[in-house]
Order: sequence, then C-alpha cells, then structure tokens
Amino acid sequence: MNKPLNVVILAAGKGTRMHSDLPKVLHPLAGRPLIEHVIAAADSLAPERICVVYGHGGDVLPQAVGRDDLAWVKQEPQLGTGHAVQQTVSRLNPDAVALILYGDVPLIRSETLQELVLLAREDALALLTVSLANPTGYGRIVRNAQGGVERIVEHKDATPEELTLHEVNTGIMALPVKRLSAWLARLSNDNAQGEYYLTDIIAMAAAERVRVLPCHPGAVWEVLGVNSRMQLAELERAHQHNLAEALLHRGVTLIDPKRLDIRGELACGRDVLIDVNCVFEGRVDLADGVKIGANCVLKNVEVAAGVEILPFSHIEGARIGTGSRIGPYSRIRPGTELAAETHIGNFVEIKNSRIGFNSKVNHLSYVGDASVGSKVNIGAGTITANYDGANKHRTEIEDRASIGSNCVLVAPVRIGAEATIGAGSVINKDAPAGELTVARAKAVTVPGWKRPVKK
Ligand code: UD1
Ligand code: CA
Repeated sequence: MNKPLNVVILAAGKGTRMHSDLPKVLHPLAGRPLIEHVIAAADSLAPERICVVYGHGGDVLPQAVGRDDLAWVKQEPQLGTGHAVQQTVSRLNPDAVALILYGDVPLIRSETLQELVLLAREDALALLTVSLANPTGYGRIVRNAQGGVERIVEHKDATPEELTLHEVNTGIMALPVKRLSAWLARLSNDNAQGEYYLTDIIAMAAAERVRVLPCHPGAVWEVLGVNSRMQLAELERAHQHNLAEALLHRGVTLIDPKRLDIRGELACGRDVLIDVNCVFEGRVDLADGVKIGANCVLKNVEVAAGVEILPFSHIEGARIGTGSRIGPYSRIRPGTELAAETHIGNFVEIKNSRIGFNSKVNHLSYVGDASVGSKVNIGAGTITANYDGANKHRTEIEDRASIGSNCVLVAPVRIGAEATIGAGSVINKDAPAGELTVARAKAVTVPGWKRPVKK
C-alpha cells in the first residue's frame, strides 16, 4: 500500500555568502526564484502536502512565492537543519512518508525524487548521496565494514581520516514521518557548530536496525546547492546547457548552444534556427521554420511559421503572423498583433496595435494604439501621436492607404482606404478614402536671395 507523501522544504538559512538583502532562495535561476524550482519538483510528485520552513528575511519569502496552498512554517531562531525539520512535525501526517528537500538546491529532478521516495519504507530510510572529487564542506557518509551506511559526520566535526571520504550527504532524504519525529525529539546540539543536525538521525536509524538505503542522482548538478553568487552563476550555466541540449535533440538549430538563455518556456517547431545571444522570457512559441537573428530578446511572444526576426530586435507580449519579417533593431511592445507577411523594419516601435496582412512599417516609425489594415505602407519617420498628455487615442488606417515619410497622425484620427498622405504632413482630421491629403507649408523659392557674408 502506498503511503501519502509529505514534502518538507528547508529554506530558513541566512545565505550570508550571497551578500544580498534578498533572501537567498529568492535569487533567480533561469528567471525564476530558486525555491520555485524546488516547489515545482515537489509539485511534480503530487504530494499530500508541502511544508516550507522559512525564517531569515521574514515574511518576504511566503509573500514573494504567493502560494497559500503550502504550509509555511517559521523557524526562529535557526538552530540547524534538525531543528528546522522539527518545526514542521505537527504539520505532517503521521502516516505519511516525509521527503526532505533544500530550497537552495534547485535542479533536483522529479525522476530522482520518485526513485528515492519508492525506497522509503516503515523499516527503511532512503538517503540521496553523491561522490564528489572535492567534498569540502559537505557531510561525509561513513559506512561500516559490510558497506552499509552507519552515520553522517559533518565536515567541521570530521577526523582527518573521515575527511578523506568522497561520498557526501546531499541532504535530501525520504523516511516515514513517525520515525522522523521520534528521532528528531532525541537530537542534541553537542557538536562543532552547536546546531541540531538532521544528519544525526542516520546513526539513530542504523542503531535501531532501520535500513539506510543510499540512492544516487543521475547527474551531480541535480544536487548542487547555491551558497554564493559564483555557485549561482555556475548552476545557471549548467541549467542553460541542459535546456540547449534538449532543444538540439528536438531538432532546433542553435548556432552556439553556449550563447542562449531561456528564462521561461520556449516551444519550437521543426527547423527553427536561433542565432547567438538570444534571450527568451516567459512563454515563447516559435512555429516551423522560424529564424531568430543574433541578440534578440523575446518575452511572451507567439511567432507563426516562417517568420524571420533579424538581429537586435526586442519583442514583448505580441503575436507575429506567418511569413513576417521583423528587424533588425525593431521594438515590438505588448498588445501588438501582426498579421501574416508584415514587414517591420529598423528603429520602428509598435505598441498595442494591430497591423494587417502584408503591411509595411520599414523605417524609424512609432505606431501606438493603432489599427492598420492590409497592404498599408507607412513611410519612414511617421509617428502616431497617440497621447495628448492625459489620454491615449486610437489611429485607424484602412486598407491600402499610403502614408508618406515624416508624417504625424494626431489621434484620434482615421485614414480612409487607399488614401495617400503627402510626406511631412501633420494630420489632425480624418483623411478621406482614395484621396491625397497633404498638410504642409508649400515650398517657396526666393529669386536672387543671397547668403549673408561675414563683415
Ligand atoms: C547540510 C548537511 C550536510 C550536507 C549539506 C549538503 C546538516 C547538518 N548538514 O550542511 O551533511 O552535506 O547540507 O548541502 O544537515 N536550514 C534551515 N534552518 C536552519 C539551518 C539550515 O532551514 O536552522 C536550511 C538552509 O536554508 C538550507 C539547508 O537547510 O536550505 C541546509 O543548510 P546549510 O546550513 O546550508 O547546511 P550545511 O551546513 O551546508
Ligand atoms: Ca549548504
């Protein structure tokens, strides 16, 4: 019979070596707080409950995470990992298996945890251990003559001989709640750090002939913790490497898998190509045959098949229709919808606008709060003046209109279908369909005029 699962996440520690005002577990990895990666791993096991132990930094942590379906347990003062788990005992189901996770070990995989949890029994504790070339700082796994796990000795309490052991405690374990609470009640803080060590329960288990079953992660990065900005940066790279590898496996071309950052979810169709130094945030969908040029930033964007985004474009909160060509140097802001085969060119900013089929805004323009029909051409340097200092107004440009260069369309204003607007016009009333509208001073030639000369 399967027991219910209760997860305990330890996150009360100070994170002194981050040198930060932000609680350590709120520092982002791949655009998301460390602790949210751990909570996601816990969620993937569909546990009966999740308890998070917090303390340092106060209520900032539960507020930032914003999950009231979790049991938030405050540990104050922080007297060690054993003391931390002790705070949760009253919140745990006595008939459950407890899984202990660390808020600062973000890359632990669901598959590894499932394996660990399956090993835990009434008479067996499952312990995740790993062999490290440099075990400095970690608790060492001490085994008996038969190879069974006997106890864990913390680095600061270890003898020179114990310090030579390379198998270390990851801190992650699974065991029955009943056993856990009985052992926690017997912990003492008589050790080098004057702390209640969770790790001391291993010797108690061994003494009671409860089997300690070691289990290992598929890869070392799964169990690496973040104690410093250096380690955070290293884990970020390890994680990005994994994400890039997964994309390559699915058939995406990455010009350099080392120069790509995914800070959210990136979904790619067939034959997608991504050039160097692109950043993807939030949810980004790239359909079949999409090409993304170098140095682009895309956040919450849906890109349809065959679109080409040229270098240095910044696109957020937009939908881009089939076969469109964007950039180089385009900025597309939230609320924008581009229909199929649109062309948005260099130094063009589009905000909260709909641009119809095959319309072109190719150079140096600002289009905001506008509805643009199909096959419209907007000349270089044209601006929709959408803001009167107090309110935003809309501009409507109907199908096949042609707007000359350097126009100002003062909203609210409507340009009729097939209307032509002469270059340099300031248009502050509706322009009728099919006609030429010009609003500029006539060019004048002054015959015989002479330039002034220096006296
Ligand atoms: C701990 C283990 C060590 C293991 C290492 C793996 C103990 C005694 N030692 O050591 O065997 O090799 O992790 O990284 O368990 N925390 C609290 N409250 C506290 C103290 C810690 O919530 O009072 C949390 C921290 O926020 C952190 C985790 O527990 O998420 C581990 O604490 P940390 O102080 O980093 O333990 P280590 O000394 O590294
Ligand atoms: Ca640590």
